[in-house]
Amino acid sequence: MSERQSLKEYLKQYSQADASAWHAAGAIGAIAKACIQISYITADGALSASAGAACGTNAGGDVQKELDVRADAIIRSALTEAHVAILASEEADGPQTIDPSSRIGVAFDPLDGSSNIEVNMAVGTIFSIVPVPDDLRRTFRQSGTAQIAAGFVVYGPQTSLVLTLGKGVDIFALDRADGEFKLIRRNVRIPPDTAEFAINLSNRRHWDPVVRVFIDQCLAGEEGVLGKDFNMRWIGSLVAEAYRILTRGGLFLYPADARAGYSDGRLRLLYEAHPIAFIIEQAGGAASTGRARILDLAADTVHQRTPLIMGASDDVRFVENLYASPEPNDRAKAPLFAHRGFFRV
Ligand code: F6P
Ligand code: MN
Repeated sequence: MSERQSLKEYLKQYSQADASAWHAAGAIGAIAKACIQISYITADGALSASAGAACGTNAGGDVQKELDVRADAIIRSALTEAHVAILASEEADGPQTIDPSSRIGVAFDPLDGSSNIEVNMAVGTIFSIVPVPDDLRRTFRQSGTAQIAAGFVVYGPQTSLVLTLGKGVDIFALDRADGEFKLIRRNVRIPPDTAEFAINLSNRRHWDPVVRVFIDQCLAGEEGVLGKDFNMRWIGSLVAEAYRILTRGGLFLYPADARAGYSDGRLRLLYEAHPIAFIIEQAGGAASTGRARILDLAADTVHQRTPLIMGASDDVRFVENLYASPEPNDRAKAPLFAHRGFFRV
């Protein structure tokens, strides 16, 4: 793998564009280094203390594992050394100001999918880099379109880094021979339609009628209006689902539902939906709440949640059209939406 471009070389080229690119490149390099450390800890599993043990609750009310807290400390300390104005993390109540002279802020989910730690499944780290506006306190109140860069790392059989700097999506793999990320795929693209969906089906009875109608149509397969048989996956780590969609296509849904606390779904806008949506759009896919484009939303609070429907652009538009319909049940059956209808060519 030695002839492949390293992340360091790649970031060096990018950093020369302007001051915020220089600051963003420094932050990405620092996060990548921190993630290599986290990747060794996750790979050690139970050998590395009690990484899967619960140790509290975070600001958003989720159970916190020891590894969540360690990953947060590792990334926070790496970013404190880099040139970053302000940080927001899933594991902290509010933002932390570091160096107001910097041009960038970083929002991050230190360990995504942490319920998968002790079962030896892929987990990850997600980050979003935004410019600092005139008022530093408004850094994390900008819409997702303001992002300069976004990325995520998957700690799976391979440790992979998926990155966008706003000009497509590139993927790096950790080369364990020299402890460096190396470029393995340039400009990945998501096919516009798919026959694979991901949703936590156990929540079906809580979903709103639109999502129920849509998934029921997927389950109807060839005999349904979508006219094809679907495959289903649910990993329980957003990073792993996003990685699968980037490599072989698909559709992911974490909708709002009727359970207490799920009226805006489960995922967090700032450090989950915004960066993942930026990456998915940069790869030619789409990301929506069903009613609005994720990147057009701005957060009022750091831990704000949002429904997320993302992946194959035609299928995301299909679900949006169902949401726009007063009678989704009838609409899903209407010829316009049927296989080879106006919206399904
Ligand atoms: O960060 C939240 C998260 O762990 C995501 O990675 C994942 O997509 C989701 O929660 C899984 O939620 P559930 O356990 O409700 O299926
Ligand atoms: Mn998460």
